[in-house]
Amino acid sequence: MNVMVVGGGGREHAIIKKIKENKNVEKVYSLPGNGGILEEAVCIDIDSKNVDEIANFAKNKNIDYAIISPDDPLVLGAVDKLESLKIPCFGPNSKAAIIEGSKVFSKKFMKKYNIPTAEYEVFEDYKSALEYLKKSKYPIVIKADGLALGKGVFISKDYLEASEFIQSVMQDKVFGKSGNKIVIEEYLQGPEVSILSFTDGKTIVPMISSMDHKKAQDGDKGLNTGGMGAIAPNPYYTEEIAKICMEKIFKPTIEGMNAEGRQFKGCLYFGLMITKNGPKVIEYNCRFGDPETQAILPLLESDLLDIMLATTNQTLSQEKVKFKNKFSCCVVLSSKGYPQKYETGFEIKIPNNIKEHINIAGAKNKDGTLVTAGGRVISVTQVDDSLELAVKGAYEKAKKISFENMYYRKDIGKNALEYSRKEL
Ligand code: AMP
Ligand code: GLY
Repeated sequence: MNVMVVGGGGREHAIIKKIKENKNVEKVYSLPGNGGILEEAVCIDIDSKNVDEIANFAKNKNIDYAIISPDDPLVLGAVDKLESLKIPCFGPNSKAAIIEGSKVFSKKFMKKYNIPTAEYEVFEDYKSALEYLKKSKYPIVIKADGLALGKGVFISKDYLEASEFIQSVMQDKVFGKSGNKIVIEEYLQGPEVSILSFTDGKTIVPMISSMDHKKAQDGDKGLNTGGMGAIAPNPYYTEEIAKICMEKIFKPTIEGMNAEGRQFKGCLYFGLMITKNGPKVIEYNCRFGDPETQAILPLLESDLLDIMLATTNQTLSQEKVKFKNKFSCCVVLSSKGYPQKYETGFEIKIPNNIKEHINIAGAKNKDGTLVTAGGRVISVTQVDDSLELAVKGAYEKAKKISFENMYYRKDIGKNALEYSRKEL
């Protein structure tokens, strides 16, 4: 089987390693891949947003199965295009990917199907939004409607900050068309849980729970990033909460999308907040989360490719999806300065004896040497018998890797560990 994986980050590196465990996989292509992925797959320099080139490549190379991993190509219709060429895909079509592609869609959808989420208002007009902000209570949350590289959400503490943000989004168009509409919503509090799920549009199977660490600095301080580390399972996600989520959030989402004529197949990600009034949806993603995937996939005991094929063929109810009874911790090693300005081009040194569960993201191969080429450079994951050991192991690995200007958070898993100890 020839498999194509679109994307080129740590998440895709983890997905590629996992699908290669399936003995039917002959060749794996990664578009565009990166300097680390090329040890696992043939990297082809096609941008993951270039849907036409992706489709042409797949057709010319007789691709048997396409895994579309990032949000952009999904929202832009990569699956629609490939399916029209009779190439089966993992991932939703563009009609279903709108659940992530438009915050306005997802908020209206949740309201219509009674799925718990923060109270909100939608604005298309800058002046009305400004008027609303004058009367609002703070903190308040403002979200650009469309995709914005993870930067479209702003929690503002007062009117001044809020008005500056909507000025930049709606007037100055810092996110382009993604800022034509905005959502202003109630600020919620509570621990966050990421639930990634497999779904074929009929059956939904949640994966093991996880916790992202979105802020750049220790103690959840600093700017929002794509994610600086993750742990799994998430101790806040108890069996009781899981049951509530299945009945009030997961099933109604799948059923609602079907009712809208937008059947979702692929990985549906629920960003949840466990508030004192129960779990609420903060966001949907139409894809695997990063770095959560890098903590989750090493715990998956079942065959990933078989599960993916079952979501495509709508046979998920017959598929075994089993996770190890273990713990994992993923720490992201980044370039100092990320998510703002940073320097690249520094040589990366990784000892051979720690290669397991090391994923490469922002790095390229320069004349045979791996050098930094992005904000999030490498992730190290440790799977162990307890969360404590997983955290310890991940940091031991991190210390053995070096590149100039390397920066990482020192407290991934700390909050989860403290909470687990309290609960004992
Ligand atoms: P999102 O891109 O929608 O995941 O938002 C990024 C982060 O902003 C989330 O992980 C939360 O930490 C925070 N956030 C988003 N919406 C809210 C909300 N309504 N209340 C509090 N925090 C929020
Ligand atoms: N880790 C959150 C995301 O992938 O959007």
